[in-house]
Amino acid sequence: MTTGDRRRFAVILAAGDGKRMKSDRPKVLCEVLFKPMIRWVEDACRAAGVEEICIVEGDQSELLRQAVSPACTFYRQAQRRGTGHAVRMAAEALAGGGDVVVLNGDSPFIDAQTINAAYRQHREEQNAVTVVTAHIAAPFGYGRILRDSAGAVTGIVEEKDADTEQKRITEINSGAYWFDAVFLAGALERITANNAQGEYYLTDVLGIALTDGLRAGGYTAPDSNVTLGANDRRALKTLNEIARQREIDRHLDEGVDIPCDDGVVIGKGVTIGHDTLILPGTILLGNTKIGAHCVIGPNSYLVDSTVGNGTRVNASYMTNAFVGENSTIGPFAQMRPNTSLGNGVKIGDFVEIKNSTIGDKTSVAHLTYIGDSDVGSQCNFGCGVVTANYDGCHKYRTVIGDRAFIGCNTNIIPPVQIGEGAYTAAGTTVDEDVPAGALAIGRVRQQVREEWAAKNINFKGGKK
Ligand code: UD1
Ligand code: CA
Repeated sequence: MTTGDRRRFAVILAAGDGKRMKSDRPKVLCEVLFKPMIRWVEDACRAAGVEEICIVEGDQSELLRQAVSPACTFYRQAQRRGTGHAVRMAAEALAGGGDVVVLNGDSPFIDAQTINAAYRQHREEQNAVTVVTAHIAAPFGYGRILRDSAGAVTGIVEEKDADTEQKRITEINSGAYWFDAVFLAGALERITANNAQGEYYLTDVLGIALTDGLRAGGYTAPDSNVTLGANDRRALKTLNEIARQREIDRHLDEGVDIPCDDGVVIGKGVTIGHDTLILPGTILLGNTKIGAHCVIGPNSYLVDSTVGNGTRVNASYMTNAFVGENSTIGPFAQMRPNTSLGNGVKIGDFVEIKNSTIGDKTSVAHLTYIGDSDVGSQCNFGCGVVTANYDGCHKYRTVIGDRAFIGCNTNIIPPVQIGEGAYTAAGTTVDEDVPAGALAIGRVRQQVREEWAAKNINFKGGKK
């Protein structure tokens, strides 16, 4: 949006500890849909076009800084003395003037639309402060918005300070506000900790504006969900459920088939093509991209992975892996990082592949480990093939040409190359190159000792 030359910046409050969460990490690092709450808030600011972001941090700041972008400016609040005190830590940023949006790091659903709609109202009404409010059915725990008979905002009262009548108010303070930065800096010097919690409440700034004859307004969010916060694990679970359903609905609207969403969790960055069927127990995270006409699940876990059109992944794991079109993976297979499978590939049960490429139409059907390998197309792996890629110190690559046939229970000890169309006999240990078209057989020749049992075993089964 056009904001003229006015400076717009954000202060996100994130110094709270995890006391009510019973966490040993800062509360704002608790995750909603696998993303720390503070990161949701930062992303909303950037989506709103607010690029200058200040974060008020408390203890364990290293952990916090890992969760947000390094472009943020950090201010430390050494002791938790309330939200008003926390904002004061960013006094240096406020002194630069302009309009500041203050946000709670534990309210992840604030979005760009709300931030900008509230800003528009803030500017139009020429307010010193505009608080984002919402009407919610269960307001317990939130600050309540007080209004006069004409509907003008007159103050905010915290749950712990509210009388019985005030507790019945269902319009709540979201913890998001636009302020005139210079006014805010001055007002923060005047608030006191004279309340039930003995804290410096940011909310008291609203009363100061009115006392000074300045304007205070309330922007009521049409979707009350944007205002929800989490102080404990129960609330966090509620937020997770809302976020999860939102993502599922988004994919349903895009033509993805999710007949039963039990245990289905789809992260925000995931894309899924139309007519793909997602079955129960499927978790799709990170930068995962699923094509059209796939079947994913049941009970599959994909992180940062790509699946081509028409591919089936059944009860399997993929992390940072790629599979092309019309392939099948699973049940019970694991594709580990840097695995790239071609089109029409078949990966069966109890197969693990790591840091390897597998060509088109290759079949690895059962009980096999392939690590650090380049495998051609149309190869066939028998049951129980193992690449011994690690000697305890170093890792080595195996290279297998197109149409090679790897017999059951072959051990491959790299560095080694198996040529195009070569065969390995069942039970062979391959530790030298196999030329194209050759057969490698390396196993102890079978011996047969006639009547061995009669000579050695008595009738009760014991040895003679
Ligand atoms: C706050 C508001 C309440 C509002 C609610 C919305 C005040 C006094 N109350 O209450 O009106 O309805 O948010 O969710 O502002 N923080 C610090 N330093 C501190 C205290 C808190 O950085 O000293 C941070 C926390 O990490 C958190 C945010 O500020 O991200 C809000 O603090 P919290 O204690 O959760 O406030 P609420 O009781 O939820
Ligand atoms: Ca809170």
